[in-house]
Formats: sequence, structure tokens, C-alpha cells
Amino acid sequence: MDKKHYLESVSKLNKFAHYYYVLDDPLTTDEVYDKLYHEVLQYEETHPLEVAENSPTQRVGGSPLEKFTKASHPSRMWSLEDIFNADELKKWLEKTQKLVDDISFYCEPKFDGASLNLIYDGGVLVQAITRGDGVVGEDVTQNSKTIQSVPLKIAHLEKIEIRGEVVIFKDEFEKINQERMKAGEALFANPRNAAAGSLRQLDSKITAKRNLVFLPYGIGTNTLEEPLLHKRMELVYSWGFRTPPRRKTTAGFEAIEAIYEQMKSERESYDMMLDGMVIKVDQVEAQEEMGYTVKVPRWAVAYKFPAVEKITTLKDIILQVGRSGAVTPVAVVEKVDLDGAMVERASLHNFDEIDRKDVRIGDKVIILRSGDVIPKIVKVLVHERDGSQKPYIRPTTCPVCDSELLDEGALTKCQNLACSARVVNAIIYFASKPCLNIDGLGEKIVETLYNEGLIKSVTDLFSLELDQLLALEGFKEKKSQKLLDAIAKSRGVECWRFINALGIEHIGEVASKTLCENFGLEFDSVSKETLIGIDGFGEEMANSLLEFVRVNAEHIQTLKNILQPVAPEVKEEVVENPFKSKTIVLTGTMSESRGNIKKLLESLGAKVSGSVSKKTDYLICGEDAGSKYDKAQSLGVETLTEAEMREMLS
Ligand code: IVH
Repeated sequence: MDKKHYLESVSKLNKFAHYYYVLDDPLTTDEVYDKLYHEVLQYEETHPLEVAENSPTQRVGGSPLEKFTKASHPSRMWSLEDIFNADELKKWLEKTQKLVDDISFYCEPKFDGASLNLIYDGGVLVQAITRGDGVVGEDVTQNSKTIQSVPLKIAHLEKIEIRGEVVIFKDEFEKINQERMKAGEALFANPRNAAAGSLRQLDSKITAKRNLVFLPYGIGTNTLEEPLLHKRMELVYSWGFRTPPRRKTTAGFEAIEAIYEQMKSERESYDMMLDGMVIKVDQVEAQEEMGYTVKVPRWAVAYKFPAVEKITTLKDIILQVGRSGAVTPVAVVEKVDLDGAMVERASLHNFDEIDRKDVRIGDKVIILRSGDVIPKIVKVLVHERDGSQKPYIRPTTCPVCDSELLDEGALTKCQNLACSARVVNAIIYFASKPCLNIDGLGEKIVETLYNEGLIKSVTDLFSLELDQLLALEGFKEKKSQKLLDAIAKSRGVECWRFINALGIEHIGEVASKTLCENFGLEFDSVSKETLIGIDGFGEEMANSLLEFVRVNAEHIQTLKNILQPVAPEVKEEVVENPFKSKTIVLTGTMSESRGNIKKLLESLGAKVSGSVSKKTDYLICGEDAGSKYDKAQSLGVETLTEAEMREMLS
């Protein structure tokens, strides 16, 4: 690679990253990106003086800091006044219109994260400072460079401050907390804390891993001449920043109220948490005329959404026993309104989390709803204790069947296979949508049938009779017949639903489909080696499946006989050859297109994959094989030239 090619590659990578992280519209695959990135990195290693300021390699983070240094904002970062209802909005608009007439307003979401000031000079990001007290914050330049949606270079040479909010998307927040739970670490209370905590990491390599997102909302010191705020923001977005999920320039109470209602109703569907809508005077000159109070601008206001976070009292902790025997604590709280839903129950994750948070019955707690349905207890207000709170004692016996519990720290299990809670939940799961999808067989009815002694396991469902149902309270002829018909209809169920319905640990919907595609109804007689050879199948999954089919062979056969599940056509048998069932990766330039060679190998029963891993059987190399060859070497994967491949076939 020469210098010209290097610089071209850097801008190509930046374009890919821009489409991926800013526009949410990937232009290429990870593989292509990684290959080019690797080439750029190699060039930089041999030409350290030529490393471009905006090279994506500059985003990986540097050596950890001892502490953050303080830094002053070139101009002050302001806060916002909050309003909560239409009356307050009306008043605010009247006041504003009195100060300046003929104004319009720029409306955009209020993002719930940590604010950050980015200073660009000469088109280059020179410093990034947290809000702090608005005058002085902390220098987090190193960390901010790891945020992919923070441009390292912009097409504007004069000095400018771009202000915005650093957030963590809701799904990323869930993922981080899942990982922290597995590692036995304290969980983040909400996406805002996760974002703020990640931004203020002394080790920027940790920040780099957190997938933070920067959303610009304003401009500090600048030399722009454009008189309208929304036009200025369009300019900012055009320099490579993310746009908000909704923005509108409008005027008048009704129009503003309408866009507020719209944003509020869409709020759940956004990737990030919002806590309101910000309304700003669009005319910059008018903003300057109106000025500031001690803390907030007079030309902007935050119209808050109803809270998804509330303080309530923990009344009790009850226990739930799942179909796998997992016993989980559930908080019973004083009823509160969380953004329109009356909430009485909240998740507490597990017993370790109760200990870690030192949750006590009677505590004041903060509960949060973040996109998903079940709210969680995220914080205990320890300073509100008055001595009447009672520590929680972990259960040692199952609340349903009284047998001894197995305590594995994060996971507590009832080991009694006949525990009625386990059995009932297994039947409910068996009948649920992603499984047999039996219409009308929900929680209540399963419980009734079980409690009346009509079913003891899933197989009993298929010998239920009309008379038995009619004898139950509330079961009229029509309802009973409908239920029996729905159960009968599950005969001939799709194979993957059948596998999923078995409720095998670690084997969910996706794995069930994979099993079904590969082995059809023979999924229960596959060797461990073959299972692990499948893309997406790990050791844990394979072990779980093998153990399940070993213990439940008879049960599976009985169910197969009753349900007669239907498998898709099993792939045609291919003749024996050295590549059958092998995982192969192609690289380099070959005598014909790689697509053709891929087709050839697939027709021989091989699986052709895009990247080299431990599971790759052969890497087949054409000319100029690149990083894949190195990877195959380092993993000890066998490599073949194209000629060698052809020889093996002849
Ligand atoms: S404007 C001069 N716009 O909310 C105006 N702030 O409660 C100053 N925030 O410190 C702020 N989204 O961190 C503005 N669209 C948005 C915002 C936003 C989130 C944060 C920001 C600010 C805080 C004030």
C-alpha cells in the first residue's frame, strides 16, 4: 500500500463507519470493513509518522489515565427549565411571544444521557469536555474519540463548540447489564447512568467497548452566520453527526402540542431513552435578545414526558418458580403510575442482586421501565430508612413444593421435576405461541386442568375428553369443544415448534429452527461433533441437547407419535467427497469467480462461510490471499491452494 492508497482507504473506512454508526444504513459487511481496517493498521505500523488524524485506528482508546483534568468550556453550558403540561406550555409561549414577535420554534427530543461539549478547531476535534457545573468540566477527549458517532474531522475550519448528549441505546444497556450480571458485577441503574459512567472511565478502552452514541443538540461558541437555529443544526448534521429521530420547526400552541404528543407516543419505539421534548426559539437573534436567567436560557424549555422512573415502597418479595425450576424473586410495590401503566410488580433479577443492593422490605425504591414490559427496581433509597425496614432472607425451600433449593449464587433452583409450578409452567410454555401455539390454552386454563387432576404432563393434553371438561366450572359445550379442537389441530406441527416446545435449556426458537433445517426429526440422534460443527451452535447448547435427549428419549418418542411433527424436506444426499459437511472459507483471486467456486462446494455438501474461525475446516486460497491466511495460520486451520482443492476432487 502506498500513501495515496492509504489515505483513500482511511476515507473509505470513514465512509463505511458513517453509514453504519450515523446513518444506520450499512454499506458493506463487517468482513470487508475488517479487512480494510487491518490493511490500514499494517500501513500505520510501518509508517507511524503518516498516521491520519481521522484514521479509525485512532478510536481504540489509549493508556488509562490517573485522573481526569479539569477544563473550562469556551462558553457556558446551560441547563433547561422544565414544564410538565399543556397549561405550562401555553404560559411559556405567551411569555416568549411577548418578548419577541413573529417567532417559530425548533422542537426535538430531550435525550436522557450525559452532556458533552466537543470543540473543533481547524476542522479537527481538539477537545471534549463533560458538562460539569456548566463552566468547568472534565477533559474526556481520549474517551470521546472512541465514540463512533463523534466525527474526528468536520468540514468547517473555524472554531466551533458542538454540544450534545452521549447516550446508550436501550438494547445495548440490557446487554451490558446481562454481561455484568453474569460476571457478578453491580448493575447500572438505567441507560443514563450507564452512559455517564462509561464516558467517565479512566480507561478509554472500556469506553470504546460500550457502544456509546453522540446526539448533537446545540452549538456553543461559533462564527456561523445562518440566522435560524434549525438551519444551523442541519449544517451540523451535514458534517457527519447523527440526526435526532424526529425534529420539526413549527409555531403556535396547537402545532407544538401535536408534535409533543406524537413524540411521546413514539417514545417506546426509539432506540434511546427520551425524557421529554425540547422547544427552542428558532431565530438566533431573538434568542440573544431574550437572554438567560442565572441558570437557563429564556428561549428554550424542556417539556417533560411522564416519568418512566418513580419512587415507591417495596411491600414484599414473592417468589416465582419457572419451568426450568429457576426460582426468581419478584418485588411487590405500592401501586404507581409509570407513564400511563399502573405498576405493582417489579423485577429484582436474582437473590445476589438483592444482597448486593441490600434491598429490605419497607424500603423506598426507584423503579424504572426502559422499553421492555416488566419494570425493575434499580435503586434503594438507603438514606430514607427509618429503622422499620426488614432484611430479606433467601429461601432455602421451594415456595411451591417445599423441596430443598439448590443455591448457585445468581441462580437458585427447585430440583424437583414433579414440582407443580415447574410442571404447570412447562405445559403453559408447551402450548404458547412460539411452541405448539394452541389457541385458548393459556395460563388460567392450564392451572385449572392441572389442579383438577386432568393433566399431569403435556401428553395428557391429548387424551382429554369432552365430558371431563364439561364437568369443570365455567366450561360450556362450545368452549370445551373449541379447546379440544385446538389441541387436536396441533398434530402435524412444524418440526421446529415441536423442538422448541420441549423446553430444552439453551435451545430457543433460533436453535430449534437450525436443528430442524439440518436434521429434521432426527435432531435427537446427532453426535456432539456434528452439533458443534453447525454455525451458531456452541458446546453448552450441544451438551444441553444431548443430556435432554438422553434422559427424555421415551418422552420425545411418545410426543412424536402423538404429534406427528412435520419436517421440511431434508437436503438431498450428496455423494461422499472430501468436502462434504466441511466448513470452508475462500480467499484471494481464483481462476473463476469465488461465487462459482462457492456454488460448486455447496453442491458437494460443504458449508462456505465468510470468515475464518476455529470451526473452519479448510481455507482455500487463490492469489494474493490476505489477512484470512494469517488468521488460518494462527488458528492452525488447514489451508489449500485452488489447485490442491481441484486435485482432491478429481
Ligand atoms: S438544550 C441552551 N437540547 O438536558 C440549551 N439539551 O436539562 C441547553 N439535553 O444539559 C440545552 N437533550 O444535557 C438541549 N435536545 C436537547 C437536549 C438537551 C438532552 C440535556 C442537556 C442539558 C440538559 C438540561
